Amino acid sequence: MTADGPSVAVRVPGKVNLFLAVRGRMADGYHDLVTVLQTVSLFDELHAGVVGPPGRGHHPAGRRRMRVELWHDAKEGLPPAGDNLAARAAVALGRAAGILEAELGSGGVTGGRDWDRSAGPDAGTGEPRTVLDLRKRIPVAGGMAGGSADAAAALVALNELWGCDLTRDELRTVAASLGSDVPFCLVGGTALATGRGTALARVLCRGTFHWVVCQAADQLPTAQVYRAWDRHCRPSEVEPDAVLQALRVQDPVALGAALHNDLEAAAFSLRPELEVDRKALLDAGALGAMLSGSGPTLLALAEDAVAAHRIAERVAGRFARVVVAQSPAGGPELSDGR
Ligand code: C5P
Repeated sequence: MTADGPSVAVRVPGKVNLFLAVRGRMADGYHDLVTVLQTVSLFDELHAGVVGPPGRGHHPAGRRRMRVELWHDAKEGLPPAGDNLAARAAVALGRAAGILEAELGSGGVTGGRDWDRSAGPDAGTGEPRTVLDLRKRIPVAGGMAGGSADAAAALVALNELWGCDLTRDELRTVAASLGSDVPFCLVGGTALATGRGTALARVLCRGTFHWVVCQAADQLPTAQVYRAWDRHCRPSEVEPDAVLQALRVQDPVALGAALHNDLEAAAFSLRPELEVDRKALLDAGALGAMLSGSGPTLLALAEDAVAAHRIAERVAGRFARVVVAQSPAGGPELSDGR
């Protein structure tokens, strides 16, 4: 993306749930959770810039309307701009900051990475617009908060680019309106989340943990997994103490034994092959293995980086994509977009 005005870039990590207990279904249909979240080193990158002829109201504060367009690789299987969390985050931020009655661009899907201005749906209108150019590495609808991470990246990027000056707390309120995982993605690191997943408390984590992230070929929508939980599962009382202790003392063996995810039974009822794959990760030498969030990505915890690569090699044939990653992986990082 070549911006004509200012531009920024944000690199944002995905997340894993080291512990996820479902306490029950709440009156609003959401589920009451106790979960330990940690960022993991698979990163999406969002470049945001203002495009259009100079001197025509590049700064949104000086205008009431500006098109927001989302550009990404068509092969990535992302939802269209109207449903995409990064684009929705842009609109929500513009409104919350009171600077913009933002509209969403209708197109904005490109097959290649090089954004070609003449190919844009608004080419030739001459109006400045904000372009979000998204480069994905976090699996789409894979249970690693990829969409939520992109929303957090858009909030951080546009708060800067548009000079919104929203405080962390104000950003967090906008984040919670976008999705349950977005407030965590805004801060990153390691956190204990309760309620819908938006009430966060920091958790102490020493050292680095090594993971094999195993992606399935198909997506598994989160809402579908929660509906399966409603049909097949009962509220659980299991507590996260053993996970929290393992993080505190940097003990991968204890963490491997303590990993827990109540959504597994629900996801396995929809995709029985995932349970077989999870067992294969343990047979390949993982200290622990589990579904990532609502899946279908599976995670194997390894003793160290060497062991992670060894496990990855052994299981590569079973999955669409297998990568080695580390946690925790910080939070969104803002840089100059040029
Ligand atoms: O909050 P978010 O839009 O990311 O959630 C996606 C879907 O997952 C919701 O529509 C809901 O069906 C389900 N969900 C839930 N309880 C939660 C979080 C998500 O039922 N705590």
